[in-house]
Amino acid sequence: MFEHIPAYAGDPILSLVEQFLRDERATKVNLSIGLFYDDDGNIPLLEPVQEAEDRLVAQHRARSYLPMDGDAEFREAARAYVFGDKHEAVTSHRIASVQAIGGSGALKLAADLVHRYFPQSEVWISQPTWDNHRAIFEAAGVKVNEYPYYDRENNRIRFDELLACIQTLPARSVVLMHPCCHNPTGMDLSHEQWQQLITVFKQNNLIAYLDMAYQGFGQGIEEDAWTVRAFAAAGLSCFVGSSFSKSFSWYGERAGALHVVCASAKEADCVLGQLKAIVRQIYSSPPVHGAAVVNMVLRDPILRTRWEQDVNHMRARIQEMRQVLQKIISAKVPGRNFDYFTQQQGMFSYTGLSAEQVDRLREEFAVYLVRSGRMCVAGLNHHNVEYVAQSMAQVLQE
Ligand code: LMR
Repeated sequence: MFEHIPAYAGDPILSLVEQFLRDERATKVNLSIGLFYDDDGNIPLLEPVQEAEDRLVAQHRARSYLPMDGDAEFREAARAYVFGDKHEAVTSHRIASVQAIGGSGALKLAADLVHRYFPQSEVWISQPTWDNHRAIFEAAGVKVNEYPYYDRENNRIRFDELLACIQTLPARSVVLMHPCCHNPTGMDLSHEQWQQLITVFKQNNLIAYLDMAYQGFGQGIEEDAWTVRAFAAAGLSCFVGSSFSKSFSWYGERAGALHVVCASAKEADCVLGQLKAIVRQIYSSPPVHGAAVVNMVLRDPILRTRWEQDVNHMRARIQEMRQVLQKIISAKVPGRNFDYFTQQQGMFSYTGLSAEQVDRLREEFAVYLVRSGRMCVAGLNHHNVEYVAQSMAQVLQE
């Protein structure tokens, strides 16, 4: 019955994790998937998160179903985390917010909504982008195109070409952008460049999907939300995907949200209703636990302050590892400029390594990067950075 089903070619990121786990070499280093490790190489369970979890578990609450759109308190807290609680779009109730199964789940809900209610619209993603963006929209039946974003040769954003491309898009095109910590390049637009884009989005009646999976890992929790808030303040209707996987070190709990900024509260009600219908048709309602913990941390002033300190610490550790790597590798590979390691933001660095060089790093040195050359800087630590830099230097020079 199933013999016509072909083997799965594997996912460019998740299959590497499987391979890494099977690798028995003691020197192995995982710099592939976006996971934050502490300086001892462990994925942390943040203390305020653990405390919230302990409190919730002690309540021995029954597990009824959540509503289709998720827990109401969580949705409100998640919205305030992204937009701030005083943003005009929030106070005028024109944002439809749904609890989502992580940032990927938010994308899937939006992709289905686009397919249903914008049948003429196509999606535009950055070249390059997170591998799964294309897959999620195509699986929902939406055509996906690319806009220029990154110049690999010169390690810079191709902003003029990006802007020129966006200017030509038909009205109601969906343009997927990364408001902070661009994945995979780590290169973000400036406020001035975002303002120029906002003008074009308004003039040409375009819809942004702002995928914010790394809020807090760029400049800070508030600072990283600047772009999203600017789009909403400009009166633009848009999608915002938000994830607590990284900022809470809460990956497997799949806690995220989709916010749809609408023109009015009435419109937001209808959008929310249709998102509920989509949820019902895929998984009925979201899970309780991960979002309940996030909600408690966001609402409890003491836990929140401690969590914000943790986010600041994670961000600072990533920035420090960027500097250490840049310094060591610059000494090992003279004549090549590695400044991009410290100019990029967030978890990822686009190293400029070719797929063949990445393969050599993995096969000869057990250092795992994504084949696009993307490195998760948050997997470096003081114990492995010298080894990684040495391995990279060898691959680059031989
Ligand atoms: C990544 O880009 O590594 C993360 O967003 C995890 C994932 O699901 O790919």
